[in-house]
Amino acid sequence: MRLNSLLSPLPGWGRAALALGATALLTGCDLNFWRMDGHQSTLVVDGPVARSQLGVFYVTCWVTFSIFLVVGGVLAYATWKFRARTASEEQAVPAEQGHGNPLIELGLIGASVLALVIIAIPTLRAIWYTADVPVADKANAYEVNATGLQWWFRFEYPAEQIPGSGPLLTSNELVIPAGRPVRINLRAADVIHSFWIPKLAGKVDMIPNRGNSLWLQADAPGYFWGQCAEYCGDSHAVMRFRVIALGPREFNDWVNRQLAPARTVAPADAGASPAPAAVVRTTWQRNEKGWTEQFERDPLAAWRAHQRPEQAESPALIAQGRALFQSKTCFTCHVVRGQMAGGSSAYPDLTHLGSRTTLAAGLLENNTEQLARWIAHPDQVKPGNKMYALGYLPNNIRLTAGDVAALTAYLQSLK
Ligand code: CUA
Repeated sequence: MRLNSLLSPLPGWGRAALALGATALLTGCDLNFWRMDGHQSTLVVDGPVARSQLGVFYVTCWVTFSIFLVVGGVLAYATWKFRARTASEEQAVPAEQGHGNPLIELGLIGASVLALVIIAIPTLRAIWYTADVPVADKANAYEVNATGLQWWFRFEYPAEQIPGSGPLLTSNELVIPAGRPVRINLRAADVIHSFWIPKLAGKVDMIPNRGNSLWLQADAPGYFWGQCAEYCGDSHAVMRFRVIALGPREFNDWVNRQLAPARTVAPADAGASPAPAAVVRTTWQRNEKGWTEQFERDPLAAWRAHQRPEQAESPALIAQGRALFQSKTCFTCHVVRGQMAGGSSAYPDLTHLGSRTTLAAGLLENNTEQLARWIAHPDQVKPGNKMYALGYLPNNIRLTAGDVAALTAYLQSLK
């Protein structure tokens, strides 16, 4: 009431301005909104390729904005200058109809050509720059193969070979060295996908039977959000991924950990660390969110925390989960290198699943609750996914809450 009576002398636009100002003040803490620096912002970028693309965007914006100012200005001037001042002027049809002014018309053609040339120069420069790693940096470039599948991304590291197994494979989280150009060969296994990390580079299609590539570089260590940017079926909108850029030593350590076979937790001695009661939630609303505030705040710290074994892990529960992974035939699709024979690269490699921050192609945070949710209801999290359609349904896989808890503990132990 009091606020209303205070504001009532203000005109409508004054109250609107006040409301806008108050909103700005109240959301002042959310700087990202005002800086337009969201996770997938192309306006605040973190690498030379995205910066060069942003440069083209700004040049185009300024040129078109200038055209808008000139055309709008001339229109406003003409509207004012030649307005009808009297009633008779309003009725009158100009006696003489002109065809136009040749000089102005030629001038406009010249100005348009100039505007296009101004846009074309940085555009062509950016096209050449972003096409491939600059020659001077070629020797320093790191190479990764990325494949789009319905609906996840497989990353292959040809430089990191595992004896008797082939190149190192990960999924949905691309770890790269920061400050170094990374050349990414883009392939698709089924339909067309598109590879896009807005803050680093974007966006290039992944096309079956065609070799595309892009290169990018992260200025500094960081955690970046990626997204499939080409409609590719039911779960296209939730086909996401992450890029984690690390300093040289940390990257090296990560590669060494990934090259190692799956971490095996020794079966519990009788009586030691008994399996806790199943605390995982197994019922979920459709489309329920799975992200936590904490993770959003410092994702790189969250990523680092994921590299270490869980503090409260239960060897007994893990052993139970490992047996279930076999008896429920999970291993026939998923590779857990060094523990189980079987599996194929057509499905995510789970050898080090616990070390990843996300699940289900970047959709859920990789924690006990969300992992249990994913295992219990993959069809609800990602409609149409193969784990459900080709695994659970035809094989009649039924999981109890206890099964889900054990499988969750086992998968989390795979650091
Ligand atoms: Cu893959 Cu859209």
